[in-house]
Amino acid sequence: MSLAQAKVALGRQEAGHEPVVPVLEDKEFRKFQKFIYEAAGISLSDAKKPLVSSRLIRRLRHYELNSFGEYFHLVMRADQAEEFQCLVDLLTTNETYFFREEKHFDLLRTQILPAREAYPYRIWSAASSNGSEPYSLAMLLADELGTAPWEIVATDISQRMLETARKGLYPLEAAEKIAPEYLNKYCRKGVRSQQGMFLIDAALRNKIDFRYLNLNGAWPELGYFDVIFLRNVMIYFDRDTKKELIARIVARLNRGGYLIISHTETLNGIDHGLKFMCPSVYYKN
Ligand SMILES: C[S@@+](CC[C@H](N)C(=O)[O-])C[C@H]1O[C@@H](n2cnc3c(N)ncnc32)[C@H](O)[C@@H]1O
Repeated sequence: MSLAQAKVALGRQEAGHEPVVPVLEDKEFRKFQKFIYEAAGISLSDAKKPLVSSRLIRRLRHYELNSFGEYFHLVMRADQAEEFQCLVDLLTTNETYFFREEKHFDLLRTQILPAREAYPYRIWSAASSNGSEPYSLAMLLADELGTAPWEIVATDISQRMLETARKGLYPLEAAEKIAPEYLNKYCRKGVRSQQGMFLIDAALRNKIDFRYLNLNGAWPELGYFDVIFLRNVMIYFDRDTKKELIARIVARLNRGGYLIISHTETLNGIDHGLKFMCPSVYYKN
């Protein structure tokens, strides 16, 4: 913007033509940091301040509020349960894609599944985001296990992500990493209002039990699992939170079951009692 243009823009603001954009003050940011730590166990670093500001500004506009402090105040009201969940949704990072960290899926297909002993074979996708991870698992299980019974439980703290996941509708670009034979068998090309999208086949969608679950809160009864995918979520937790979570996760694994974390995460320094199989993959003896 040239100096002349800047003067015109500022002049308009002075004349009351353009709204002043609220700034997220440090003390306000600290309230949001504390909020998400208490609600989800997520540690937001100071570097996330611009990100938080840009995500929350929409809500300030929606309610026509002038400061982040006012928005925080609103969320804390007892009658604002929906907005509370909306804030949790906005403060979580949901990046994911189909067949992310392909090695895990190869390992499942070539080593873990062939050695299975009991049925139904049960997998938990413990931070399932928009569903890409559990649907990738479902395609693989459907293909490898044929008619043998299997179950996938997929959980997340974000209701917005769970809604997207249950629909199973994704832009065509998201199919990039899905093998053509899986696309043919388990996905349908969108038509009319779903043009440019693909839909996970209803039979596969119905096989996944999508549920709200806060990993750092009370858990509903889930049963025990042969494999637990806990990927790209512990990066947001501090050491104590991770320690507690891993103890609870290990308790949900069947004997001989596997815990799969992300290649970018580590269990170093955590007394988990599992055996190391290969980087990011552990099993219970
Ligand atoms: C970066 S995504 C990872 C998705 C997938 N596991 C993957 O690796 O592609 C992290 C997910 O963890 C969820 N999450 C964050 N904190 C959580 C918590 N306390 N309980 C359950 N889910 C949580 C977020 O909502 C988000 O969908």
